[in-house]
Amino acid sequence: MSEVAKKSSPIVVALDYPSMDQALAMANRLDPTLCRVKVGKELFTRSGPVVVDALHRLGFEVFLDLKFHDIPSTTAKAVVAAAEMGVWMVNVHASGGQKMMETARNELDKMVGPRPLLIAVTVLTSMLADDLKQIGVQAAPEDQVQRLARLAHQSGMDGVVCSAQEAQMLRCQLGGSFQLVTPGIRPVGAEVGDQQRIMTPAQAVQAGSDFLVVGRPITRAAEPITVLQQVLAELKNLV
Ligand code: C5P
Repeated sequence: MSEVAKKSSPIVVALDYPSMDQALAMANRLDPTLCRVKVGKELFTRSGPVVVDALHRLGFEVFLDLKFHDIPSTTAKAVVAAAEMGVWMVNVHASGGQKMMETARNELDKMVGPRPLLIAVTVLTSMLADDLKQIGVQAAPEDQVQRLARLAHQSGMDGVVCSAQEAQMLRCQLGGSFQLVTPGIRPVGAEVGDQQRIMTPAQAVQAGSDFLVVGRPITRAAEPITVLQQVLAELKNLV
């Protein structure tokens, strides 16, 4: 695991905003010693690498959530480009296959200095059994998650994005050092919104999650830093 991944806070705040100004305004209300931040497709497509640079200048480590999925050489080059931006975590789709993941791993390993954690997305939580059937996958979603997580593990990924419900099973199957990154986290009393299968931060950590992606419960709070501190206090009580 990279040095930075040892930092104590498991919270990654999703900066799901359409502009850099809004993302930085929220980042300024957070604390880089208490969380990392996630930049996704909308923000990155609108703002580009400058938003990552700006977040780094504020002291945040960045999960660049662009879910690359392409032929092996193209995916690997995109992963290297992300690494050159100095991000802490980057991801690809496990359904891109073993060759794609291994090529990305190998190219990343050629780099000197700190490298991002390379994480694979298994099955998007928006995909139900019928959606998988439509694309020719007859397996139940949870079986497909296991299959892709095993493939990601064999292909040298540092971990997977999965729902907290799957964390315990994957932790048992894939061992302690495989990083499990889980969205769908709702602190007690928070609005559920459009998330389907949720867990509290404490439940997710107990199930084996290493990093908890939390968006709206923090970013839409009147006092985001207070919610962040409350979540961390809840987790501290676990140990
Ligand atoms: O606001 P909320 O806490 O629901 O945000 C969760 C974040 O995690 C969003 O950026 C969302 O796109 C992302 N995510 C997710 N479920 C997945 C993968 C990513 O909610 N399976």
